[in-house]
Amino acid sequence: MGYNLSKKGLDISPSVTLEITAKAKEMRAKGIDVISFGAGEPDFNTPENIRKEAIRAIEEGLTRYTPASGIMELKKAVCDKFKRDNNLEYEPENIVISNGAKHSIFNALMAILNPGDEVIIGVPYWVSYPELVKIAGGNPVYINTVEENEFKFTVKDLERVKTNNTKAIILNSPSNPTGSIYSREELEEIAKWAVENKVFVISDEIYEKLVYDDEHVSIASLNDAIKNLTIVINGMSKAYSMTGWRIGFLAANKEIAKVISNIQSHTTSNPCSISQYASVVGLNEDQSAVEEMRKQFKKRRDYMVEVINSIDGLSCRKPKGAFYIMVNIKELKGKVIKGVKINSSLDLAKVLLDEGKVAVIPGIGFGDDDYFRLSYATSMENIEEGLRRIKIVIES
Ligand SMILES: Cc1ncc(COP(=O)(O)O)c(C=O)c1O
Repeated sequence: MGYNLSKKGLDISPSVTLEITAKAKEMRAKGIDVISFGAGEPDFNTPENIRKEAIRAIEEGLTRYTPASGIMELKKAVCDKFKRDNNLEYEPENIVISNGAKHSIFNALMAILNPGDEVIIGVPYWVSYPELVKIAGGNPVYINTVEENEFKFTVKDLERVKTNNTKAIILNSPSNPTGSIYSREELEEIAKWAVENKVFVISDEIYEKLVYDDEHVSIASLNDAIKNLTIVINGMSKAYSMTGWRIGFLAANKEIAKVISNIQSHTTSNPCSISQYASVVGLNEDQSAVEEMRKQFKKRRDYMVEVINSIDGLSCRKPKGAFYIMVNIKELKGKVIKGVKINSSLDLAKVLLDEGKVAVIPGIGFGDDDYFRLSYATSMENIEEGLRRIKIVIES
């Protein structure tokens, strides 16, 4: 129509993954039995004590505006969580509660970026990072990582892309989509570099509870200098299976937290009051539901890694955290499967959907066309059947 729309808005890329998920949905609506490996959320119900507390909050009328940056009870529970899990000392003034971790990341970027500031992002990345940086007026700068180094970047990489405009790096450990975890030693080197170069670190730790082999270390816990430059992002979505409740939180130096709180007060105001009260219980009470979920994920991961590596043309490493596996498809590129020449991850995803009735997320959505991503946030039954179908199509 030729509307004169905002450059900012027009610069936002539509999600590449949407095409596949929309098609899978359409097929399902037609009654076709599609198995999806696309889920970005745990398939478990929110623990009962959290659900009950939400009902109590509604019944007792805790349904009004709260302070814009969150209720004091939840900020205190978040401080206790950081102390208990990450050995990090914060006070409620360091904490901002938002509408999901994505919103926390957005607020953090809005608080630190000026036009033209650069934010370093490792590839493959979580789909929203580049777009969030752009909306906040910054420029994403990419580091291509390799599978041999578990898709992790190093200080050498940071040195290579550093400019006078480098303002922040986004660190995501455990990672979506790779499941990689940065070790304490790797984080120490990155922290030293960030402090020397006065670069902020946005540390997205939303998958911290879903680690299977290594320990999770928060970069902010290494020393005070890096703590002051780090905005730690976390939330209820993945650990407590609360994706729809929309509670994320961040911890930052008080000066930064204040600016973030001001931004939030004029945009969304407080996150849902009911979800906030329920989250207090989630953080403070028995954590056995989280551990039970972690065990289930580990079992699924181990099974999937074994089966994927037994399929001709596919391979993967054992991811250490989150609930995703990046499957290497390099061997299949250029080959013909079911009459379709596979030139890209999207080509393969389409063949798997059309011929196998299996939805996978093409790696191009995460910036790396040599892979597709499988999520194991689905039942063991679905996993077994889905992998069986993938094998049949690919080995056909
Ligand atoms: C790496 C990463 N960060 C943040 C989020 C957003 O979490 P939330 O639902 O709390 O906004 C996700 C969700 O998929 C994620 O994968």
